[in-house]
Amino acid sequence: MRKIAVCPGSFDPITKGHLDIIRRASQLFDRVIVLVSVNPDKDATFSATQRMEFIERATANLPNVVTDFSDGLLADYMRDCGACAIVKGLRAVSDFEYEFQMAMANKKLNPDAETVFLTTQGENMYLSSSLVRQIGRLGGDISTFVPPEILHDIETGLRKK
Ligand code: COA
Repeated sequence: MRKIAVCPGSFDPITKGHLDIIRRASQLFDRVIVLVSVNPDKDATFSATQRMEFIERATANLPNVVTDFSDGLLADYMRDCGACAIVKGLRAVSDFEYEFQMAMANKKLNPDAETVFLTTQGENMYLSSSLVRQIGRLGGDISTFVPPEILHDIETGLRKK
């Protein structure tokens, strides 16, 4: 049976930290769906279409990775696409409580949805999309944080906001 994993997130925008997790998940599963999802606690800077396009370009060299969007519950999406695992990156102990809560809630809503945590590489431990947005908006160098294929468009997009 083909094993499908979903990497969900708001990806506003995708960073090298996300990409590291997606790349490693693509080696563990037959197919990985990078799912641009809605976090109701956040107002997005980039549109869902832009965020998906950034992900598609950054993962173009990973043949078993596809991108999708959902504005519904992750647990329902998992059921609809036949995925067996939610893959998330854990950056630090401070991530754990929130991630544990989401994993438990998803499991309650869909008992077949297992959450798998991959530890992030040390150099990405401090990274987040909002940090990238803040540095980029103020004209700082974000080239070490985002994939090179999309660097220019992210910089341009942030400076316009
Ligand atoms: N490397 C670098 N940064 C990372 C990272 C990694 N490996 N993993 C996460 N981050 C960053 C993200 O960029 C994000 O930064 P930000 O807060 O500045 O935007 C931060 O860490 C938190 O990431 P995460 O916990 O994955 O939150 P998110 O907003 O990206 O994603 C959803 C949360 C969208 C997956 C969640 O809200 C969801 O499942 N929504 C769907 C609706 C639903 O089912 N809700 C019930 C869930 S139980």
